[in-house]
Amino acid sequence: MKHAAPLLFASLLLTACSEDPAPPVNPPPPEPVDERCPGTGVSKGPWSLRVDRTSAVVRWETCRADVAGGVLFNPEGSDEIRQVDATVTTYEVPETRKAPLDPSAPPDEAGTYWTHEAVLSDLQPGACVQYHLAADPAAKGRVCAAKPDGAPLRFLAIGDTNPGLNRITLKLLDQVLPMNPDFTLHGGDIQYYDSGLETYASWFPAMRPLLAQGAMFPALGNHELEVPEEYEAYYRRFWGDAGFDGAGDHYRFESGGVWFFSLDTEKPLGKDSEQGKWIADSLADAASKPGYRFSVVFLHKPLVTCGDKSDDPVTRAELEPIFVQHGVRLVIQAHLHGYERFAFPDITWITTGGGGATLVDVDENIDRPACAMRATSGSVRHAVLLDATGNTLTGQVIDDKGAVWDTFTLEGP
Ligand SMILES: [Fe+2]
Repeated sequence: MKHAAPLLFASLLLTACSEDPAPPVNPPPPEPVDERCPGTGVSKGPWSLRVDRTSAVVRWETCRADVAGGVLFNPEGSDEIRQVDATVTTYEVPETRKAPLDPSAPPDEAGTYWTHEAVLSDLQPGACVQYHLAADPAAKGRVCAAKPDGAPLRFLAIGDTNPGLNRITLKLLDQVLPMNPDFTLHGGDIQYYDSGLETYASWFPAMRPLLAQGAMFPALGNHELEVPEEYEAYYRRFWGDAGFDGAGDHYRFESGGVWFFSLDTEKPLGKDSEQGKWIADSLADAASKPGYRFSVVFLHKPLVTCGDKSDDPVTRAELEPIFVQHGVRLVIQAHLHGYERFAFPDITWITTGGGGATLVDVDENIDRPACAMRATSGSVRHAVLLDATGNTLTGQVIDDKGAVWDTFTLEGP
């Protein structure tokens, strides 16, 4: 017994020495966290645009290269599910941009991003479909094919949105989206770095309800060009080729025989400019087509206004006869943060820049001659719901409390 303890100790020692000791286990280094990239890899969207009677384009952005999969979609009210692949374009965002007045807004981080685009085709004219991304079933929306000849259509116009400012834009959308517009015309100043309150990374989740409702057709605003890379890195990548036939920033599309023309007020618009010639030719072309009803022009900086922004009576005098000749009933402007309606004899112009940015004085230049023809105005937050029925276009100007602030009815040519 006297030797039992040393023997036991030796036995334990031999046992311990007869096997390789387990190496010290160091925990693996943590995976680097990509703050800009959610788990699905889908960093923005989806959203839709470039709609005609049988097809629509769905876009979204991913922040990783390995996010595969296209779009699954089905006609509303149907169980038929179809899937379509996407094309992918890589883009290198050169600068990080932040919202200095709202630290909760995620920055737009520099780095590589992938823009995915899927074409939903073989749609029935006027049919709306529900879609979602294969990479993320929660990333979903609705888009409607353009209507057949003569069909009624309902659409929304809004300008100068600023969802980072007290959620005013979102309160407006709460009022108008339940009215089920097929698509939205955005009058420009889509996202405001200059407000200090938002980035594109904060804008997209905030504007999800609008993007999920239907296609968005933008006019380019001056705030799409606030920082040097913004046009290529953001505007072109997100909203480029939103329609047809133009040169990127100006384009047209149609639904039910109503034609829509988006113009770029950051470039010349006079009758001898490239855009001026384009809209004269393409309006004449649209008006010559079977089933043509009338046209709507939308642009950012107003050619006529009595508010705190410049006007451009020379360009308006050049373009208005062309508009009237080819059946433009309504011109939608923005940039002025308020509402105006000018009832000229053959055509109505509205300013709809009250989509959420800080309101301004809409009477600052009330002495301008055209102000004698201004029928209604107000420093009011609003969006405009428009219905085209036959050759009649009616508008309801709806504020962020749901009140109808103005109405108008325009008879077609
Ligand atoms: Fe503007």
